[in-house]
Amino acid sequence: MTRHEEVPLPEYNEQLERDYADLRACLETRVPCLEWPLHLPWIDAIRHLKAKRGAVIMAHSYQAPEIFHGVADVTGDSLALAQAAVTCEAELIVLCGVHFMAETAKILAPERTVLIPDMDAGCSLAASITAADVRRLRALHPGAPVVSYVNTSAEVKAESDACCTSANAVQVVEAMGSDKVIFLPDRYLGSFVAARTQVELVLWNGACEVHETFTAAQARHARERFDARLVAHPECPPDVQAEADFVGSTSAMGAWLAKERPARVALITECAMADNLQARFPDIEFVRPCNLCPHMKRITLPNIYACLRDRRYEVQIPEAVANGARRALARMLAVGRGERL
Ligand code: 13P
Ligand code: SF4
Repeated sequence: MTRHEEVPLPEYNEQLERDYADLRACLETRVPCLEWPLHLPWIDAIRHLKAKRGAVIMAHSYQAPEIFHGVADVTGDSLALAQAAVTCEAELIVLCGVHFMAETAKILAPERTVLIPDMDAGCSLAASITAADVRRLRALHPGAPVVSYVNTSAEVKAESDACCTSANAVQVVEAMGSDKVIFLPDRYLGSFVAARTQVELVLWNGACEVHETFTAAQARHARERFDARLVAHPECPPDVQAEADFVGSTSAMGAWLAKERPARVALITECAMADNLQARFPDIEFVRPCNLCPHMKRITLPNIYACLRDRRYEVQIPEAVANGARRALARMLAVGRGERL
């Protein structure tokens, strides 16, 4: 729930403008000047409250720039946030992202309090499959291990042999040491992985409601009209991926830009990616055939403030489920460290 009306807007003043001149300069081209006086008092209030509570704010790359650059201590893709949860020393974690990301943080840091500013920040992929579906798939394909994308509920993770993110999906599938793997729930990420491995994949029919709406015509338009290089997330449909110069995860996109330094690029993914990468690559022009994730955008500065003020909403997971999900996540992290499963 986003309840702006419950939280009075802190006051804007000229001193704040001077105190945050560096942040303003970093967000110059990404936050409209009319919005800045609205964001600034929240940013200041959140920073103070965060310090008072000893909290760490983690923000996914799809968070709005005023959150990503304004208040977050840790930023990155879902893999980076999961890794940060493991080593986090703060007692309180505020996860600015969607619910499965907050669950992942809680599973990997069970002794910490994990809060999410809006419990209804869901994900169409996580909603596409249940634990009972995974059990049915196992019965249909006896002996085939289950690899689930982190974009799943804790219950689905608990039924899985290992988790993966878009950054390590091929690696995890191959580390299972099986000729056949049940890979869920994203059919497009699944076909991306299938094209890069000899392992036979059994796919589920899930999709990301944000990435599946991109079209190949849109991608071509970005290339032809703006002379832009194209970078697509593997959750996009295969014909969109086929148009791209590079297909890769959220972190891989940043790495590709650092290496290639294109003059102009279109990121075929969630809008905030271009906003947040612009600060890192001021010399690159970002063309934006982008879609907003409505779930990610449920997180706002006012509800982050309310979350810290009232210690709401706390993520809790039944112990048996958390233990099963932790095993699957731990195997993913072990693959990242080069360990054999
Ligand atoms: P990443 O794993 O690349 O962070 O993506 C998460 C996500 O929700 C993509 O839509
Ligand atoms: Fe889920 Fe897609 Fe939103 Fe990512 S962008 S959180 S996959 S709905």
